[in-house]
Amino acid sequence: MINNFIEEKLQKVLDTLHYDIKAKVIISNRKDLCDYQFDGAFSYAKILHQNPYDISLNIVNKFNEIYETEDYFSKIEAVRPGFINFTLSDKFINNLIVDMSKNEKFNISLPQPQKIIIDYGGPNIAKPLHVGHLRSAIVGESIKRILKYFNNEVIGDVHLGDYGLQIGQVIYGLKEKNIAKENITIELLDQIYPEMSQKCKENEEIKQKCAEITKELQDGNEEYQEYFKLIRKVSGDDILRIYNYLDVHYDLWYGESDAYPYIDKVKKDLEKRNLLVDSNGAKIVNVSKPTDEVEVPPFIFQKSNGAYLYGTTDLGTIYQRIEDFKPDNIIYVTDLRQKMHFTQLFRVCEKLGLTNHIKFEHLGFGTVNGKDGKPFKTRAGTAPKLDELFKETKEVFLKSNSKNTNMKEEDLDILVNAIIKFADLQNNREKDYIFDITKFSEVVGKTGPYILYTYLRIANILNNEEKVESNLSNVIYNNVDRNLRIKILELENTLIYSANTRLPSILANYLYELCVNLNAFYENNHINNLDDQNKKNDWLFVLRLANNIIKEMLDLLSIKIPERM
Ligand code: ARG
Repeated sequence: MINNFIEEKLQKVLDTLHYDIKAKVIISNRKDLCDYQFDGAFSYAKILHQNPYDISLNIVNKFNEIYETEDYFSKIEAVRPGFINFTLSDKFINNLIVDMSKNEKFNISLPQPQKIIIDYGGPNIAKPLHVGHLRSAIVGESIKRILKYFNNEVIGDVHLGDYGLQIGQVIYGLKEKNIAKENITIELLDQIYPEMSQKCKENEEIKQKCAEITKELQDGNEEYQEYFKLIRKVSGDDILRIYNYLDVHYDLWYGESDAYPYIDKVKKDLEKRNLLVDSNGAKIVNVSKPTDEVEVPPFIFQKSNGAYLYGTTDLGTIYQRIEDFKPDNIIYVTDLRQKMHFTQLFRVCEKLGLTNHIKFEHLGFGTVNGKDGKPFKTRAGTAPKLDELFKETKEVFLKSNSKNTNMKEEDLDILVNAIIKFADLQNNREKDYIFDITKFSEVVGKTGPYILYTYLRIANILNNEEKVESNLSNVIYNNVDRNLRIKILELENTLIYSANTRLPSILANYLYELCVNLNAFYENNHINNLDDQNKKNDWLFVLRLANNIIKEMLDLLSIKIPERM
């Protein structure tokens, strides 16, 4: 990383001066003035009661004394009130660019790989997938791909909600309507679930009955088990179909029901450590801490009627994962509203000693809202089903981009994916965002189509050139050119930061900025009719690298590239 490169040198300078400052260098926030900056003089100046500018000046002078800087920097400057600005030399920039293009994964440094399980998607079977299920799948898939890019062994698990109350409700409904098991279809489930969920709200008796069925199912009732298996198959197939459309793929298709065989072992361990407390017949674990600012209620392990809950199956699943994979890290991607659940769960894990060797993380995400700022709904007042959403997105895209009406169906599906995913991923995952297909579908602005359009535009130039340029000279020709090359160099920082914070938005926004630089380049530097062969060669080299970056990074966002648009 360039930061590290500068920091290493700078640290030596600081040590020589006996300045007790950490050499932390960041990408410049005034790109017109420099490429990288050091702000460390300010806080140190306070300690020394000196002027920060004088400190910076000392550092710069020492830097020039110790190092032959011309090879790397065209300018190192102390500027008032006390920043140090680093401007990279053209030669250095170009050497780094060549290294990026000649090495795998753009020559980024790869840390020690880890074994990571990522639990995302988490749909509940028998309920149709709707807009509320988008984020977990999209954000989770991207985090998985980013972590894999760093050579981690990443295992994705869908963790189906397959043993909850909705199953009891649907079984009740099927039996009530005398529907033979072999006649269960997804259309039927889509109809029965909302109907039953409404009935349970209105009728306490039916609600009780459904809860009983659920409990008996969990206890192994054979008839209910048969229903359950069929429902899981039919619903699971439909979930798979939608995830395939979204290019979201899992290594494991486990669900809550698969955790049951592990619950006894969890219970024994909790008892061994005297962690299970009786509370009106229920079994709970107290997980609050004196330092808590918000009250953390007890973790409920078992209800008084003997039923297990969401948290219990989560514990069982953790035991299953440890037995099967011995992971270093388990990551959960869910709605932010589950934050408390995971706080409780991880505290139980801590009490069980599991956090000594496993890092548990809950990555929350915000809500997809409509223009009214409330959770996105159809005109009928329900959350739009994903199938409908895909269809509508396609229509809106075609309407607002009428010259694309003869696109291949396959390419249109790619566009739908790009529209929906880029709109989601460019937002910090913790923030809510407003779902606006029209805006997301435009080819200008921070959208998926804009990125794809840029890629295809550059690909078109590259395809028209027969000669493959194999090297780069020491020259950079103008500012737009330089900005593009500097942006390319920022890839490594971006990727590492995006991976460490588990924020795909960092990568998505980088990709947008790269495309802005590329389009500025395209508009200012006309390659096609260039007579200067060296210049042409250099530019093709840079454009090829930039487009390769877009392609690989889009893949990390799980966005494909259409043939044409
Ligand atoms: N099925 C859950 C829901 O709909 C999400 C599951 C998340 N994963 C987990 N291990 N708890 O909210």
